[in-house]
Amino acid sequence: MVKVLFVCLGNICRSPMAEGLFKKHVKDQGLSESIYIDSAGTSNYHIGKQPDSRMCKTARERGIILDHKGRQISSADLDEYDYILAMDEYNFRDIQALGKNRQIKASVRMMRDFDEPKKDQIDVPDPYYGGEDGFIEVYDILDRCTQNFLGFLCEKHKL
Ligand code: 4NP
Repeated sequence: MVKVLFVCLGNICRSPMAEGLFKKHVKDQGLSESIYIDSAGTSNYHIGKQPDSRMCKTARERGIILDHKGRQISSADLDEYDYILAMDEYNFRDIQALGKNRQIKASVRMMRDFDEPKKDQIDVPDPYYGGEDGFIEVYDILDRCTQNFLGFLCEKHKL
């Protein structure tokens, strides 16, 4: 079983969307028994909350139901998961700080490392304070990145 954790700030927009898209791609490939998937936030702002209604609407209109409950990443997650995918550089630094001065199990990567064709931006932009377009942009970026990440996992782990 390969374990994957998607991480953003609030765990109500980007990372639950990545989780929902990745679960769909994994299911479509018949790999749900081989890959465990979750998401978390670096902050404690939205623990126990449903994903943002604007992100849910964007997802629902494209056939994906988001049913995650917000949770905060803990240092234990760094030894529980094989891959931790950060949505932006702040998330990446906060995740690394949780594993400071010790060996961790997880490979911590930027989500957009898996974007194709390679873009100048390295962050999945935070849509929270913007309009509807931002949520659609996040969806499109994450759709590409999660598909490419699945291709990477299949090759690497012979799935
Ligand atoms: P997310 O978006 O990190 O993609 O879930 C945000 C959600 C909430 C806040 C910021 C970003 N907030 O400041 O409450």
